[in-house]
Amino acid sequence: MLHMLILIWVIFESTSEVLGSINSYCPHHHLQQFDRKFELKTDRFWKFQEHSNKWVEVELPYDLTTCRNGNCTKVGQINNRLEKMEKQYDGFQQTKKSEKVKEVEKFHVDLTLRKRVSLTKISDMSIWITGESGSIYERFWNGVQWVIGPHDLPISAGLAVSIFGVNHSILALSEAGILYQLQINDGSQPIWVELIPTTDQTTSEEHASPVQLLAGVVSHDGMRVYFTTKNGTLLELTELEPPRWVDHGQPRDANVAAIADVASFRTEIVYTISSVGDLYEYDRNSKPLWKKHVWKDRAARDLRLIPSRGCYIHSLNGDHSISLFLLTKDGTLVERRLNKRKWKWIVHGRPKDHQLTSVLPALQDETNEKLFSLFLTTSSGFVFEYRTNIHPAGHGQEEETPDAWVNHKHPLNAKAARGIGGLQFQVGRLLFALDDGRIGELHLVGLGGENSGPTHHATSRRKPSAKYTWSILDAPESEGWNAEYCTEHRGPTNCIAGTKDDINDQGTRRSATRRPKGSQPQQNYLLPRTSESLSEKSSDSFDLLAEKWTKNSFRLRVMHGGRSFFLITVDGLTFEYLYTGDVWLWLRHESSTPMKGAVGNYNGSLYLVDNYGSLLIRERSSQELAWTNCTALRRGKQVIGGAPWDKFLGQSMKTTTEDALFFVSKTGRLLQFTVALRKFKWKNCQNPPDTKVASIVDQETFRENIVFVIGTNGRLYQYNKVTELWHEHHQSQHLLLSRMPGTATRPSPYSLIGSLFMISEDGGLIEYHWNPWDGWNWVEHGRPDRGVTFTTTPGPCFEGNQLFLVGSDGRIYLRYIEQDTWKWRNCGFPDQFDRDGKVNSKNGKGVICVDEELALEKEVEDVKAIDKNCDPKVASTKPIQFSEDAVVFELRDGRLGEMRQMEDSNWIWSRIIVTPTSLCISDYWTALAS
Ligand SMILES: *[C@@H]1O[C@H](CO)[C@@H](O)[C@H](O)[C@H]1NC(C)=O
Ligand SMILES: *[C@@H]1O[C@H](CO)[C@@H](O)[C@H](O)[C@H]1NC(C)=O
Ligand SMILES: *[C@@H]1O[C@H](CO)[C@@H](O)[C@H](O)[C@H]1NC(C)=O
Ligand SMILES: *[C@@H]1O[C@H](CO)[C@@H](O)[C@H](O)[C@H]1NC(C)=O
Ligand SMILES: *[C@@H]1O[C@H](CO)[C@@H](O)[C@H](O)[C@H]1NC(C)=O
Repeated sequence: MLHMLILIWVIFESTSEVLGSINSYCPHHHLQQFDRKFELKTDRFWKFQEHSNKWVEVELPYDLTTCRNGNCTKVGQINNRLEKMEKQYDGFQQTKKSEKVKEVEKFHVDLTLRKRVSLTKISDMSIWITGESGSIYERFWNGVQWVIGPHDLPISAGLAVSIFGVNHSILALSEAGILYQLQINDGSQPIWVELIPTTDQTTSEEHASPVQLLAGVVSHDGMRVYFTTKNGTLLELTELEPPRWVDHGQPRDANVAAIADVASFRTEIVYTISSVGDLYEYDRNSKPLWKKHVWKDRAARDLRLIPSRGCYIHSLNGDHSISLFLLTKDGTLVERRLNKRKWKWIVHGRPKDHQLTSVLPALQDETNEKLFSLFLTTSSGFVFEYRTNIHPAGHGQEEETPDAWVNHKHPLNAKAARGIGGLQFQVGRLLFALDDGRIGELHLVGLGGENSGPTHHATSRRKPSAKYTWSILDAPESEGWNAEYCTEHRGPTNCIAGTKDDINDQGTRRSATRRPKGSQPQQNYLLPRTSESLSEKSSDSFDLLAEKWTKNSFRLRVMHGGRSFFLITVDGLTFEYLYTGDVWLWLRHESSTPMKGAVGNYNGSLYLVDNYGSLLIRERSSQELAWTNCTALRRGKQVIGGAPWDKFLGQSMKTTTEDALFFVSKTGRLLQFTVALRKFKWKNCQNPPDTKVASIVDQETFRENIVFVIGTNGRLYQYNKVTELWHEHHQSQHLLLSRMPGTATRPSPYSLIGSLFMISEDGGLIEYHWNPWDGWNWVEHGRPDRGVTFTTTPGPCFEGNQLFLVGSDGRIYLRYIEQDTWKWRNCGFPDQFDRDGKVNSKNGKGVICVDEELALEKEVEDVKAIDKNCDPKVASTKPIQFSEDAVVFELRDGRLGEMRQMEDSNWIWSRIIVTPTSLCISDYWTALAS
């Protein structure tokens, strides 16, 4: 079975994984934003060209870009002024000065380069993908459905950037420039083994330092791989066992920045592009070895190529003609053509207002011999098809097809990743990596999509008018690891079995039902509106929110499940409740500033915030307890909140070198603080374009790499740690969420099924649920039927279906599922305990949770206060899940009440924990100072 997935595959023309990075286009002038008071006096513009040290006139329309640290985005465009003015005069409008300058328009926003993303076809049934997070996964057709198999490099190897299929072996290149080969170990498990290269002595002296590879291209016959190195040389992997390399060096006065084509049409000839943007031809059998393809034509001289993969076509113009399609740095499609022994350059142009960033050839469709298509992605995430006529006889070479550029746009609410070539895996079906980490399939209507396997020989009679459509495919990259596809062992057998929705172990999931064909399962991630700047008013209310934040959300935090938790008092004192092995005791943690709350817990260190918003770590270092001030670190910020629950708690804690905690800053930004291995690092993740961040609903419990937040506008947003993108979800205009943190629950770590629980602005319970059959859905649970509202973060939630809520009446309510129906239970408050914490109620009234209807009947005589210092009603402090079957609440009199789950799964008030600051105690004992 195993062998099907990883060993049996056919090498195909490895069409178009774009390997390596593409230099971004950065014109070297810096046009500031046009100031309205200046009048435009010219319609001719020049730009300074660094390599020729000259000013050259630019053609209009011209894109204005701004570059910071090599990140370039298009900010506007200079249009042809005359055109505009004519229009204005036509309309007989008085033109104001300010209107003339509107020629600089907001335009498509350039996307960030995704450096690690690649798509590689290994066989018809198997496509290997490297994601922006450095993961490797395989989309495999098991005969019934597409499943995902994980193939990540070992953690020590770091992140993967590309995959090669060569001679029936699979190779992976890491970001550090090291090559790995997939092998099968003694236990029949696939493992990655480092390929330690030995350079061929005959061609080059031995290298002392290991060669760092940058990117590679598999030769047309699938037998060799050519690599570019970080040193700008061309290297060839000629043999795998043992690995043998041939160093081909580099052109005399240029480097090798990218490989445009390997021996597709002329055996052993490699076309490379230098970082300056010149095309070179390497032929080991000729002298000189390297030849440069220059532009003879004067006008075309300024065209420099993007160092990236090009694409080759045979006999496009005449029987033995050769065409190599390449892109220039300003995003134009050009062709280097060999016809009748003469080379020439042809400029094909680009779609209006777009900058092309990658090119891939369409597979030749036998049914259409006249037309040839290329598919190209643009800097702003569009996909274009370029159609050109085939002229076997070599006539009509420069004539353009009437509708040469076809705009396939992008899937709804998603863009194609910039600079990453697509992958055509059969006629009429192309995969594109999307900017948000998902995969988009562009396919002919009726052929393709998530549920459609390889139908290689299906008749796909394609007319030129054939319509394409987009489908979005599941990818673990977008949502964290989609564990539901395969078992926890990450062995691929069950991926082959195809048990995607069917690993039914708890009865919480229904059996596999396929999605209705053609449905779009993932149209929920909306791009947030980029709106006006945030108003002053909203910043006022944010300050208010920031002022109130700890009132209830972060005063209790678990340190070690069942053994220790922290209590931050209203006065800012920090206490730890600790089990020493035979007694429970309170430990006071002295601090120089009063504390406000505990906002995170990672690997035995607690993260607290003081009254001034500084983030402080409390931890044991050697024998002492120490404080570390994180706000004092580089780029440190003041924070007001963190994630409500700890992802990294308990035995199951799976640490990686990327582990980070998320916080909300004093200015409403989301902050990422890397904590793994104490390599502390702050990062500002900003806020959704149209709102500030009020609170965090969940960090990565529900979806790996995803942080859900609530904006100050009462709407739900998500931030993807890998792609750094914000998304919004469909949410009714009428549904406003309270700005409190929420609770995520995922009953099984092997399924993505689960919910986010939040409180609405009017104090009702709201659920946002996901399952593979219906996707995302909002569920309004409201409140128990007695005018109670909820003013505390919901939770904790047990087994995905028992959620605790603190009512405004000081009672605990349990929302739970019984026979597929949600019900309310009333757990009251612990009024049966006396001052010593002993149970003094004989009838057990209120001891356990009862169904809400019964509770209503029993609705009672008021509690007789034991004395004025005691009020056993529950305070609106966010409770903690202390262990697998225990919850701890704060009571209004400052004591704590614990509930435990009994054998019949109902809950009972099990004990009262007296606290050092509560006046409702009979015996007072001094807390130990640390
Ligand atoms: C530029 O982009 C890189 C990666 O895309 C990112 O790490 C860096 O922070 C960006 N710099 C700026 C100034 O935006
Ligand atoms: C790459 O270049 C560096 C510095 O230019 C040099 O020290 C190193 O030896 C080179 N490595 C190889 C493999 O050529
Ligand atoms: C692939 O196989 C061919 C033929 O067996 C052999 O000549 C070539 O060296 C092999 N390439 C690699 C990278 O092992
Ligand atoms: C922590 O560091 C910040 C920034 O340097 C400083 O303002 C604050 O006073 C420090 N707090 C403590 C408790 O050391
Ligand atoms: C967890 O803490 C231990 C002990 O302080 C340390 O050795 C280890 O590196 C930490 N692990 C991570 C992932 O930070």
